[in-house]
Amino acid sequence: MKVAVLPGDGIGPEIVAEALKVLSVLDLKLELEQADVGGSAYESSGHPLPEATARLAQQADAVLFGAVGDWKYDNLERSLRPEQAILGLRKTLGLYANFRPAICYPELTHASSLKPELIGGLDILIIRELTGDIYFGQPKGRRTAVDGPFIGAEEGFDTMRYTRPEIERIMHTAFKAAEKRSQRVTSVDKSNVLETSQLWRDVATEIGKAYPHVALDHMYVDNAAMQLVKEPKKFDVLVTGNMFGDILSDEAAMLTGSIGMLPSASLNAKNQGLYEPSHGSAPDIAGKGLANPLATILSAAMMLRFSLNMPAQADRIERAVQKVLASGLRTPDIYSEGTQRVGTVQMGDAVVAALK
Ligand code: IPM
Ligand code: MG
Repeated sequence: MKVAVLPGDGIGPEIVAEALKVLSVLDLKLELEQADVGGSAYESSGHPLPEATARLAQQADAVLFGAVGDWKYDNLERSLRPEQAILGLRKTLGLYANFRPAICYPELTHASSLKPELIGGLDILIIRELTGDIYFGQPKGRRTAVDGPFIGAEEGFDTMRYTRPEIERIMHTAFKAAEKRSQRVTSVDKSNVLETSQLWRDVATEIGKAYPHVALDHMYVDNAAMQLVKEPKKFDVLVTGNMFGDILSDEAAMLTGSIGMLPSASLNAKNQGLYEPSHGSAPDIAGKGLANPLATILSAAMMLRFSLNMPAQADRIERAVQKVLASGLRTPDIYSEGTQRVGTVQMGDAVVAALK
């Protein structure tokens, strides 16, 4: 099994190093190959997703990804910005199904900004379509407005679009995931306004008929944003498009206390996957040894389960993380009174120790 390791920018290299440390003690006989991505790749070769990196990712069974992005690249033209690397990888690998679990670990209930009773035991799975929608829809660009209140003015525009097969396959993903959980799917859209969303809702309903034992309900995205902070435990599997999923998955992540805890998986039809923490590159704390490596370590566990067919080893990593949390170790992002503050490397070492 071959894994492409793409640490990227900001805290990426520090947290990926800890995940690799954890994988190495499991002695899995993985072939690991590292490459530049994001801002660091732009520095070394002039492009955030160099061809060699894209090729390595294509040939690998899985990609372990850190994070990309730094404010210092904000003024580059869009096609050269670090974010294009992750968008490019999603597109070239066809990673249409993004799994973003939002789980509240019992030990971290007090790290959430919501009341403990609202989030204790929270376990939501957000499934975000990742290769369509307004992110990738063409045309997009800048032009001169030919209608509306400001004819002749400069305008920016993007295209929201979904084809039926794109919606069908992500719905199958969602319903199959729900079959393994509590048999409930909430499909989130904005069909009271958007044509794209009306098709989304129609297809969701149709595909739902093939899963009669799974209950499907529909929710508008604005209401979903509200319900997530009002009664988050009402959700189980939430499936939505690329744009709404981007926003709601950050919201759901924060409910759990720390985005520093949450892994993610992005899969294509062949179960090739890209695994990355749900948080970003956090340039403000990069290089300081403060970053929480657990989201990346848990992403490596998801990689073993989904792409490398090693579920027992994935369970072992997840149990080790729970043990470390139970022992009271906390990086600053999840620290609360009465627990022990540790840095990135110490946290990784503790997971390794718990595995042994
Ligand atoms: C995410 C990120 C990306 C996205 C950015 C970095 C392009 O916010 O993975 O959620 O918008 O999808
Ligand atoms: Mg996002």
